[in-house]
Amino acid sequence: MKKYCYGTCFLISIAINILFSIYLHLGGGDRWVDKNPEIRPLTWTEKAAEEAEAVAAISCSGHGLAFLDGRISDGQPVCECYDCYGGTDCSELSPGCTVDADSGDPIFLEPFWMQNAVASAVVISGWHRMSYRYADYTLMSTELETYIRKLHSIVGNAVTEGRYMVFGVGSSQLLSAAVYALSSENSSSPSNLLASIPFYPMYKAQTVLFNSENFQFEGDTNSWQSNNRTNNTDVIEFITSPNNPDGELKKSVLGGKTIYDHAYFWPHFTPIPGPSDNDLMIFTLSKLTGHAAYVWVKCEREEDDDCGAVLEAGKIISRSGSVFSSKDRYTRLSLIKSQDDFELLLKRLTELVSLENNSIETM
Ligand SMILES: Cc1ncc(COP(=O)(O)O)c(C=O)c1O
Repeated sequence: MKKYCYGTCFLISIAINILFSIYLHLGGGDRWVDKNPEIRPLTWTEKAAEEAEAVAAISCSGHGLAFLDGRISDGQPVCECYDCYGGTDCSELSPGCTVDADSGDPIFLEPFWMQNAVASAVVISGWHRMSYRYADYTLMSTELETYIRKLHSIVGNAVTEGRYMVFGVGSSQLLSAAVYALSSENSSSPSNLLASIPFYPMYKAQTVLFNSENFQFEGDTNSWQSNNRTNNTDVIEFITSPNNPDGELKKSVLGGKTIYDHAYFWPHFTPIPGPSDNDLMIFTLSKLTGHAAYVWVKCEREEDDDCGAVLEAGKIISRSGSVFSSKDRYTRLSLIKSQDDFELLLKRLTELVSLENNSIETM
């Protein structure tokens, strides 16, 4: 009797297994898993999205953000706070904090991208474009090049027909590459690099850093011209249009070899009188997004010949005129960082003005 019972159970078990296998084979398992998503393993994109959303949901009181590639504590990403804010959730404002308006920072665009999170999110696989080259044997994306030409044509800020395009990681390295490309190959008469004061300090800094035999930084274009030194000397002129730090649309002074730095030649920053049509034009995505906002301050009181120091005493860090080879009576404030930075800057400026008003009243 026992023997028959074991035999029957064995046959029933085999039948159930066969039926279950057929059910799974015909996709019934998927339907069952779909009806119970909590037990379905996540796909790699879903897992990436889940991680991204979890870190974006960490609250940093609106004064910072946590990142998946940022600092981790107890296995969890932690808040990275904006300047002057601290604490685990960035809610603590340091009362006497100095505001750093030395340079801009695209973090002011964070709220925009958060509002456009769906349209702007990108998931990149670990194996995305691992090759050194594209399938058409180019080293630079032809698709990207097409879009850049289209962008310039829509904006109307550069003639791109018949021009070669070279990509860099930011424009700083392209400025340097352009100097190499245009400079004299004769080390006994190196090329002289010039820019009109006030000029973007990186031109000089990069030249000094690379310490080349083929070129040297010679300073202000206008003084060079008034000293009549152009004859028989090799000159490369930087034309920064619009200029950093004063926003002026500069033109070539000497009309020889030129490098047009158009970092800020975008309509959110300046009216575009017409497309630039020069031999060597450099644009950058870093300023296309609009963080080129600064203001150039002049201290008028006779004794305030170091305007940066005046502001620093009022707990504001600015960038002094001499950094741009101009006078220290001028200083530059970058207005664009986070909203918090901007509000703190206004607060410090208000404090500075009321201190000044009080001292006038007590005189
Ligand atoms: C006039 C000018 N040119 C070039 C650059 C460099 O920009 P990028 O971030 O593309 O290296 C800057 C950056 O401040 C700039 O002000």
